[in-house]
Parts: sequence; structure tokens; C-alpha cells
Amino acid sequence: MYFWLCFVVGAILFKGVSLAQAQPKQVDAFAGGDIILPCTFNIPANKDIPTVEWSKVVEGPKPVIVFLYRDGCEIFGMKDPDFEYRTNLILRQLQYGNYSLRISELKLSDSGTYQCLIIQKNGAKEQTQVELVVDSLSDPKFSVVSTDGGEVTVECKALCWKPAPFMTILDDEGKRLSDEQPKQEQDPRGCYNTKQNVTLLKPVNRLVCRVEQTGRNQSKVAEILLPGFWKESQSAAICLSAAGTAIGCLTSFTLYRLIKKRSSSEGRTQLQTATKSDQIKGSGSSDPFIQQSMADNKLNSMTEEKQTYNQNLKLLNKSSS
Ligand SMILES: *[C@@H]1O[C@H](CO)[C@@H](O)[C@H](O)[C@H]1NC(C)=O
Ligand SMILES: *[C@@H]1O[C@H](CO)[C@@H](O)[C@H](O)[C@H]1NC(C)=O
Ligand SMILES: *[C@@H]1O[C@H](CO)[C@@H](O)[C@H](O)[C@H]1NC(C)=O
Ligand SMILES: *[C@@H]1O[C@H](CO)[C@@H](O)[C@H](O)[C@H]1NC(C)=O
Repeated sequence: MYFWLCFVVGAILFKGVSLAQAQPKQVDAFAGGDIILPCTFNIPANKDIPTVEWSKVVEGPKPVIVFLYRDGCEIFGMKDPDFEYRTNLILRQLQYGNYSLRISELKLSDSGTYQCLIIQKNGAKEQTQVELVVDSLSDPKFSVVSTDGGEVTVECKALCWKPAPFMTILDDEGKRLSDEQPKQEQDPRGCYNTKQNVTLLKPVNRLVCRVEQTGRNQSKVAEILLPGFWKESQSAAICLSAAGTAIGCLTSFTLYRLIKKRSSSEGRTQLQTATKSDQIKGSGSSDPFIQQSMADNKLNSMTEEKQTYNQNLKLLNKSSS
């Protein structure tokens, strides 16, 4: 009786263990960042350094060799060019039986299953698999896209996110402004570009665009400040209704035109935009391409934008006094 019970429990336990091994451990990372794929065996490499072969599991006859280490040296001949200069073992860890692989400058296409194979001098083999998931996110951008007839349309863009994110545009009080679904399209890099427009009929000081991946607990936020703009369009409206009755009004209307002209000639991201990321988890690295273009953008536009924004404010101050 007890024997049978033990046997059944033992069989269940055994099954549980083999299932756990069949499911490779998952490691999450972000494009542009680094990651360590774990692989540890109780085979210290202090005497005979075993052969370590890291490969990516792909369909087809041959695995993609990502890293090959034999007789204490890396063997380059069979290494897939896509991983050149991007993979390495942590040499000081080999003596503890830790054959983990570091992959740097991660790409979205690195996602997949990797195999760590250890071949000892006596021919004994050990292997394990790791599932790598590479995601991508970038800072969202907010801009004014049109200012027709006293209405202001703003657009929020979040480029190259994977998986596809949710986007919401909120006003000062945290109220959602659009019920429309954001436009989402696939990027050739294997990620998603998300865009959403909101047309404002009433003055709003500040808008927030929130982009989130709920599954991975990631979110980023962009802000746009609009007070200057609303002063402009209101003074214009007052002037139009009082058409030419007061000189002061005429002047301020001219100033409004001037500002508007300046705005349209200097591009759309005229008003001060602030991008703030409140990343909750993860390394925060994104596609280096995106990072670079973000950095360029910031350098080019932040100072200029601030200057014109301040100039506009000064003109408005003058015209209203
Ligand atoms: C293996 O080495 C890596 C890199 O130093 C380290 O992060 C990891 O914790 C090590 N694994 C074990 C099981 O010690
Ligand atoms: C937002 O509006 C601009 C200007 O009208 C347009 O070019 C853009 O495609 C719109 N974007 C979306 C997501 O509808
Ligand atoms: C998301 O992150 C926050 C802050 O770190 C944490 O409190 C929360 O439990 C996380 N939620 C999930 C589902 O991981
Ligand atoms: C405009 O006027 C307000 C108050 O009158 C002042 O706080 C602000 O600094 C002024 N802005 C500029 C750019 O002069």
C-alpha cells in the first residue's frame, strides 16, 4: 500500500521535473542593451576546460553558432557573422562552472531559443536551453500638427515599440481625451509605430501622452505645454471680433500673425515639448538608432524651442500690456 503511494508520488514528482526542463528559462531584454544568458553546470573548468558551444536554435539542418570555445580559445570559423563582436563568455566565471553568455547591442531579431552545450574532455555532454525575448521601446513625442480655425490638433507618436503598446492622451485633470483607437503600423524593424491625434476645442494648458506595455509593466510619458498658444489664438479672436476699432488690438493682431508665421516657418514642434520617461522596470535601453536620433533631436530642438517659446511669451506680454 505505502509502496504504491510512494511510487505514484515519485512518478508525479519525476514527471514534474522533466516538464520543468522541457520549458526553457525565459530571459527578457531590450533592444540596444546587453544580456547574460545563464548556463551553469557542476563542471568547474579549472583543470580541463570543456568545449562550450552556444548556438541559436533555428529551423534547418545546421544550428547558428553564436559562440564556440575550445581548448581555452574562441573559435571564430563557424561563428555566425550576425553575432561578430557581440558575444562573449565571462572568463573569470568559467572556474565555477558558469558558462553564461553575454550578448551585447541586442537586436529585435536576436529573440529566440539558445542552446548551451558543454562537451567535457571525456566526451560527456551537458546541455540546457534559454529563451531570449528582446523588446523595444522609445520616448514618445508630442507635437502640434495643425492650428486651423482656433482649433489645435496635437499628435503623439511612439516609434518602434515591441510588443505594440497602448496609448492614451490625458488633459491636466487626468481625463482621457480621445476615444479613437490610435493608428498602429508595423515597422520594418519588427516593431510597431503608434500615433494618435487629438483636436482641442477648448483651451488646455498641458497634455500628457502615456504609452504603456501592460504585460511587461513598462510605461513612458511625454508632456506638451500649450498656454502660449491659447493666449495667441484668444487675442486673435478678440481682435477679429473688434475689427480695427482699437490700435492696440491691431498691433496685437499683427504680432499674432508674426508669431504664427514664425511658428510655421520653424516647423511643427514649435511649442515646448518635454519628454519624461518613468520607466518602472528593466535596463531602459532602446534601439541605439532611436537613442541617437532622440539625442540629436533634443540637442537641436530643445534650446531653439525654448528660445522661440520665450520670445513668443515676451511678444504676448508686450501685446497684452
Ligand atoms: C554566472 O556569471 C554571471 C556573470 O558574472 C552572473 O551574473 C551569474 O550570477 C553567474 N551565475 C551563477 C549561477 O553564479
Ligand atoms: C494627425 O494630423 C496630421 C495633420 O492633419 C496628419 O498628417 C496625421 O496623419 C494625423 N495622424 C493621425 C494618427 O491621424
Ligand atoms: C509594476 O511595477 C510597480 C512599480 O515597480 C509594482 O509596484 C507593480 O507591482 C508592478 N506590477 C506588475 C504586474 O509587475
Ligand atoms: C510675462 O509676464 C508674466 C507676468 O506678467 C511674467 O511672469 C513672465 O515672466 C513674463 N514672460 C516673459 C517671457 O517676459
